Amino acid sequence: MSKELYDRAVVVSQRAYAPYSNYLVGAVVQTRDGKVFEGVNVENAAYPLGVCAEKSALVNAVSEGYRPGDIAAIGITASPCGGCRQWLYEFGIEEVTFLNAGGELVTYSAAELLPDTWDLPA
Ligand code: THU
Repeated sequence: MSKELYDRAVVVSQRAYAPYSNYLVGAVVQTRDGKVFEGVNVENAAYPLGVCAEKSALVNAVSEGYRPGDIAAIGITASPCGGCRQWLYEFGIEEVTFLNAGGELVTYSAAELLPDTWDLPA
């Protein structure tokens, strides 16, 4: 599943809006019940207002009614930034697959990517 999500994220990344960094990122989440949601990074002339691909994919899933605990996996074309690791943790995602700095496809749980953080609402 992880490799498939990553491969799809590569395709999706072509739809990113990143005229400032020219760094196109795609993310694809898979829900436990088998639905898939896509996201891309969307930049803005006011740089800090840009949105990462992981967040836009998760926002799409939440907009359709999915909640933390409902997302099984995500494939990303970039190593997730610190803020996105916090988002991935919030959703309790077991399989986070991305291309690391060494060009290797790796999979971690969100908890592994953000250890020793706080408890979430029950
Ligand atoms: N970016 C993502 O979309 N996800 C990440 O986890 C890393 C960074 C985007 C943000 C910005 O549009 C561009 O990549 C350069 O940092």
